[in-house]
Amino acid sequence: MDVQASLNPATLFSAKGLVVVVTGGGSGIGLAIASALYQNNASKIYLLGRRTAILEAGIKTLETSPSAPKSSSSVLAAISCDVTSTSSVDAAVAQITKETGYVDVLINNAGVLGPTNGTALYEAESIDQLRDTMLKDWDKWESCMAINTQSIVGVSAAFLPLLEAANTRRGWAKGKVQGTGNPRKQDTTVLKGLDIDADDDRLAHIITVASIASYMRYSIAGLAYNASKAGAAQLGKILASVFAEWGIRSNVVCPGPYPSEMTTHILAQFGTNQVPQGRMGNVNDIGGLTLFLVGKGGAYVNGTVQVSDGGRLAVFPGTY
Ligand SMILES: NC(=O)c1ccc[n+]([C@@H]2O[C@H](COP(=O)([O-])OP(=O)(O)OC[C@H]3O[C@@H](n4cnc5c(N)ncnc54)[C@H](OP(=O)(O)O)[C@@H]3O)[C@@H](O)[C@H]2O)c1
Ligand SMILES: *[C@@H]1O[C@H](CO)[C@@H](O)[C@H](O)[C@H]1NC(C)=O
Ligand SMILES: *[C@@H]1O[C@H](CO)[C@@H](O)[C@H](O)[C@H]1NC(C)=O
Ligand SMILES: *[C@@H]1O[C@H](CO)[C@@H](O)[C@H](O)[C@H]1NC(C)=O
Ligand SMILES: *[C@@H]1O[C@H](CO)[C@@H](O)[C@H](O)[C@H]1NC(C)=O
Repeated sequence: MDVQASLNPATLFSAKGLVVVVTGGGSGIGLAIASALYQNNASKIYLLGRRTAILEAGIKTLETSPSAPKSSSSVLAAISCDVTSTSSVDAAVAQITKETGYVDVLINNAGVLGPTNGTALYEAESIDQLRDTMLKDWDKWESCMAINTQSIVGVSAAFLPLLEAANTRRGWAKGKVQGTGNPRKQDTTVLKGLDIDADDDRLAHIITVASIASYMRYSIAGLAYNASKAGAAQLGKILASVFAEWGIRSNVVCPGPYPSEMTTHILAQFGTNQVPQGRMGNVNDIGGLTLFLVGKGGAYVNGTVQVSDGGRLAVFPGTY
């Protein structure tokens, strides 16, 4: 390793020039991710969600922020999209194909809580009560699984051609590359014209926002949420293997409690037996992790699970 090479955080952890899609990008964690990308020179960020008003309001919040980068008015764009509808996702893909023609990073972040509530499981006082609690809101499982789990497959699949186009734009050979001692080839001479560092060998990337709920065995959110998030985390890992010969990375981010529409009812203070850090996650926590994963310094991170939970998983049963 050339230990005299420049190691500058502004280039290692930069989103410079990236085209990124964030599902569920209008609120909570998705909007915080978008903010980190926006402030660190992403060239285009598409926020996808069902409620256009929430997306537009999120964009306005970022654009009017004192931390907003200068001259960046057309970076953020809202696309109304339901991640469970293939026609809706296809329409988003068609629009982005026309506008940029490639996507460097797809962030599968949209999610819902689904049928709650897990705490009731521990408060049941008879076996009949326990049975009834487990079966409560049975009909709400389907949409929870569709949004939190099945959409990871549907949305990732729909964006594959745009992810591959990001690779070819950066000089990478196209298509399937197989076999021992046979890495994907890159024509690095194109990088200079794209204002990309000569040592930048990032490949296209899918990041799936699962949850520590994917791993915890103590149920608070509810059984459907945790099951759907366990599925999301596992799919994020499987995709890294499925895509290995296709030059597309896949990583999973598992947040602990963060402030969002989903957690408005949660008290933001915790004891050391709940979240050793004592607080909810904040914009530094998710912003820093995002920039690490999408930046040049994260190019070798692939097929992993990144937990950001203030130590919550360490004090509850469950491992990743
Ligand atoms: N906050 C936490 O403590 C926490 C912890 C661990 C994991 N997570 C995960 O983090 C992700 C973001 O959640 P959040 O906490 O930031 O909650 P949030 O503020 O409720 O954000 C969820 C976003 O997903 C969008 N969404 C939901 N269903 C959708 C659909 N069918 N199609 C497109 N977009 C959809 C919502 O917008 P529309 O309703 O307008 O579509 C919303 O903007 C979720 O996957 C969540 O499970 C959150
Ligand atoms: C973003 O761009 C500005 C202006 O070119 C530059 O000064 C800054 O270092 C860049 N930051 C990152 C993280 O790329
Ligand atoms: C969950 O159930 C418990 C016990 O039945 C109840 O005390 C609590 O208020 C419920 N929480 C929500 C968010 O419904
Ligand atoms: C479910 O998810 C919630 C929210 O992350 C978490 O607090 C709870 O302990 C998780 N585990 C189970 C099995 O429900
Ligand atoms: C990991 O990422 C590289 C690019 O960084 C990619 O070529 C490879 O196929 C990916 N998958 C796995 C499982 O390594």
